[in-house]
Amino acid sequence: MKICIGSDHGGYALKLELIEHLKARGFEVSDVGCDSEASCDYPIYAKAVTDIITEKKADLGILVCGTGIGMSMAANKVEGIRAALCHDVFSAKATREHNNANILCMGARVVGAGLAEMIVDTFVDTPFSNDERHIRRISYYS
Ligand code: RB5
Repeated sequence: MKICIGSDHGGYALKLELIEHLKARGFEVSDVGCDSEASCDYPIYAKAVTDIITEKKADLGILVCGTGIGMSMAANKVEGIRAALCHDVFSAKATREHNNANILCMGARVVGAGLAEMIVDTFVDTPFSNDERHIRRISYYS
């Protein structure tokens, strides 16, 4: 599975930990930036990840900023993107099963690295249910 990941300065340190974690699990990970903790604008990196997902160059995306909120707002403006802001494992599982979310957003000022890794693992390991009712509901907005 190919995973693309992006962050702003607020999510930079957590992003590096998640990249290490995902690579250790054997995933192919592409990092679209940012490349330091210097202040930057999160929508630039949200767009970089949504472009890769809509072009089908990766299977799933991850966006990390301070809260995860700006990233999720920016990503969800893009047609075909279903970005889920998750700070717990239950939501990460449910949003893959029910919403077929293709991007996970998290806030590095909200969750620590240990929980973030569990959320990421759950997100990437959980398949979409393919239930007819969920396909129908997703079709209302995507
Ligand atoms: C940056 O200070 C912060 O606003 C950003 O990381 C994010 O939390 C926005 O939603």
